[in-house]
Amino acid sequence: MNTSRKTFLSKHATAFALLGVFVVTFGMIGAECPLGPTMPTPTGDSGLTGRFVGSERCAECHSNVHDNWLSTLHAGALETLEAIGQGENDTCLACHTVGFGEEGGFVDRATTNSLAGVGCEACHGPSGDHASNVNDESLRPPTSIAANICGDCHTGERHPNFEEWEMSAHAAKSISDRFEEGGFYLNACGKCHSGDFYYMAILEGQTVENDALMGVAVADQNGITCAVCHDPHARTGNFAVEPEDGRDYQLRFPEVASPIPTNTIDATTNPDRFNICGQCHHGRGRTWEATSRGPHNSVQSNMYVGEMALPDADENRSPLVPSTFSVHALATEQCASCHMFRQDFQDEFAPAIAGHSMEVNNGGCAASGCHPTIESAVAAQATLQTEIQDRLDDIETRLNGFAMTFTEGGALSGAAAWEYSATGGPSEADQSEIPDNIKKIRFFLKYVQADGSLGVHNPDYTRRILDEAEDLLDDESL
Ligand code: HEC
Ligand code: HEC
Ligand code: HEC
Ligand code: HEC
Ligand code: HEC
Ligand code: HEC
Ligand code: HEC
Ligand code: HEC
Repeated sequence: MNTSRKTFLSKHATAFALLGVFVVTFGMIGAECPLGPTMPTPTGDSGLTGRFVGSERCAECHSNVHDNWLSTLHAGALETLEAIGQGENDTCLACHTVGFGEEGGFVDRATTNSLAGVGCEACHGPSGDHASNVNDESLRPPTSIAANICGDCHTGERHPNFEEWEMSAHAAKSISDRFEEGGFYLNACGKCHSGDFYYMAILEGQTVENDALMGVAVADQNGITCAVCHDPHARTGNFAVEPEDGRDYQLRFPEVASPIPTNTIDATTNPDRFNICGQCHHGRGRTWEATSRGPHNSVQSNMYVGEMALPDADENRSPLVPSTFSVHALATEQCASCHMFRQDFQDEFAPAIAGHSMEVNNGGCAASGCHPTIESAVAAQATLQTEIQDRLDDIETRLNGFAMTFTEGGALSGAAAWEYSATGGPSEADQSEIPDNIKKIRFFLKYVQADGSLGVHNPDYTRRILDEAEDLLDDESL
């Protein structure tokens, strides 16, 4: 049976290929393809048990979601198998249809055609009871943003999105023990640190109580899961470059944004200015005047744009450091070029895979054509990072030379004299004794440290920040 399908396929390979060209040509002149797709289209639903009912049924009431979903690759996942003669291969169907191998799930085109493709119930579970009793709230299908829902299929060596994501800091939830305890942290930190808060507040537009996750074990909470970055239902057109083969990565926010640098707190903390990563990887409005804490670890987008927030009260808006465009702002897919390097398409069963561990892959530096080889990019990165690290160390040493004689009874020396109060420096009250120049220098130091790339995000801006810090240290004779 398998052999004869193979023989059939190879005998007809040329014809299929020609047909492909024909379809493409027709597509280009905007006409409907008169022959239809290259796969068989037997249809029939005699095998439906009512447990799974199929996406068409959902369309009766959820027509918007259904229309959007129809344009995604999920809708045509069985056609993808059929186009390569694998439409009846049992080892493939569980991930390319709804409920294959489960009670009432997909069997074949002839008896369960409505369950072809990655339909609504592939993610929401069997929803027949809901469709027949829509007013019964206890039967409403779950709308979980848990990563394992996508991860059940986006897994394995051909498409290890889930495994890579699990390794990433986006899966780890460094502060969610605070969400479990309740308190103000959920609202203050959740929009960037909790997928659950993100879903409730930002996607569903709800007012979220501070204790909404109280008692929910950390292990049951969602971090930055797939559905935080990806729209599960729609083709969004937010990919940076026209993706190959008419794909769409269903990104909720554009992969590329090029904001004009600015220095107000409002703008530097406004996610709407930034790309998908900058929704969270932007500053939280701390300025050099801050006394208790320095910049949050999330300033990457501001650094990339070459900007820094000034105190709101600062009437003279000329920036402390001239705003400086990054040579890396032109990377084709911006943050994703380096942090989500996409390996090429490997064979007909293996799509191009984007790195979801977020670890820097220097393959992106060479693939972009900007660095001649991966090795030269690695070397350039190491040289730059060493230069920046040396200057940071030197600034810290010079700052340590500053010791206050007028606070805490003159007992402070070294870093304890110039640090933020939350980092072991003078108490909040005594922070006002620290001269402005020293506050500016420590802010510059912490800004570059918080960015975490040691200059790579914006080499020239980083250098200018450090120049400024060194000039001030000279002024202070340190
Ligand atoms: C006869 C109308 C009808 C049909 C058919 C129907 N639904 Fe619903 N569905 C509703 C109504 C009404 C609600 C509740 C209002 C709302 O949340 O939009 C709802 C809610 C939902 C929710 C959201 C629950 C929530 O907490 O927000 C999901 C998910 C859902 N339906 C999925 C499906 C799926 C999948 C199908 C097809 C298998 C389907 N529905 C078929 C009417 C329908
Ligand atoms: C039942 C299995 C299954 C589930 C569950 C599933 N997917 Fe998919 N997904 C697929 C298959 C199969 C394809 C490829 C479809 C094709 O090319 O015909 C795909 C394609 C995609 C693509 C397009 C990839 C490209 O190369 O253009 C994205 C993005 C995607 N899925 C994201 C998600 C997200 C996010 C979730 C969870 C909310 C999810 N998927 C859940 C099976 C699944
Ligand atoms: C790839 C997985 C996936 C598929 C396929 C999918 N959904 Fe969803 N759906 C989700 C996730 C995750 C959420 C919660 C996040 C969100 O609202 O974007 C959700 C939310 C919803 C909601 C509530 C919020 C809203 O957007 O209205 C409804 C209703 C819904 N889905 C219906 C459907 C219907 C109907 C289909 C099929 C036409 C479908 N879904 C297909 C994963 C999926
Ligand atoms: C604007 C989005 C945003 C907000 C709001 C936010 N954070 Fe963060 N935070 C981030 C990002 C992004 C990172 C990761 C940056 C990195 O590690 O380089 C981070 C990192 C951290 C880290 C370091 C984690 C580690 O393992 O190194 C801690 C701790 C932290 N945040 C605590 C908080 C707390 C507490 C709040 C609320 C009071 C908060 N954050 C609010 C975006 C935010
Ligand atoms: C922090 C945001 C973010 C999270 C979380 C995320 N993705 Fe992605 N994903 C992206 C971006 C950005 C791209 C496009 C990358 C590129 O330019 O190549 C992408 C690409 C993809 C693609 C298409 C390329 C490929 O690898 O085949 C799939 C499929 C996908 N993601 C699935 C998932 C799944 C499944 C999860 C959860 C396990 C997930 N993503 C979590 C941002 C995210
Ligand atoms: C919804 C918010 C959000 C979005 C969107 C987001 N991140 Fe993150 N990211 C975080 C948080 C929060 C952390 C820190 C998690 C922790 O340590 O607890 C983080 C951590 C990271 C880290 C690891 C930092 C470290 O110290 O190890 C990298 C790298 C990263 N993100 C890159 C990206 C890239 C690239 C994108 C866009 C494709 C992106 N992020 C999108 C919130 C987000
Ligand atoms: C030109 C390549 C490149 C681009 C573009 C880029 N990064 Fe980075 N990023 C790096 C390098 C290199 C590091 C340092 C990693 C190391 O040394 O291990 C880094 C570090 C980080 C870190 C800290 C990781 C850690 O372990 O502390 C985060 C978070 C981050 N980048 C997020 C982003 C975001 C968000 C963007 C887009 C605004 C972005 N990056 C754009 C190359 C890049
Ligand atoms: C574990 C679930 C799973 C199984 C089993 C599975 N696939 Fe897939 N398949 C996927 C997912 C997820 C994608 C989308 C990957 C992406 O775009 O990142 C996909 C995509 C594809 C694609 C599109 C590749 C491209 O470049 O767009 C083909 C072809 C394919 N699968 C064939 C098969 C065949 C043939 C089998 C059986 C031998 C099979 N798949 C078994 C989950 C699966």
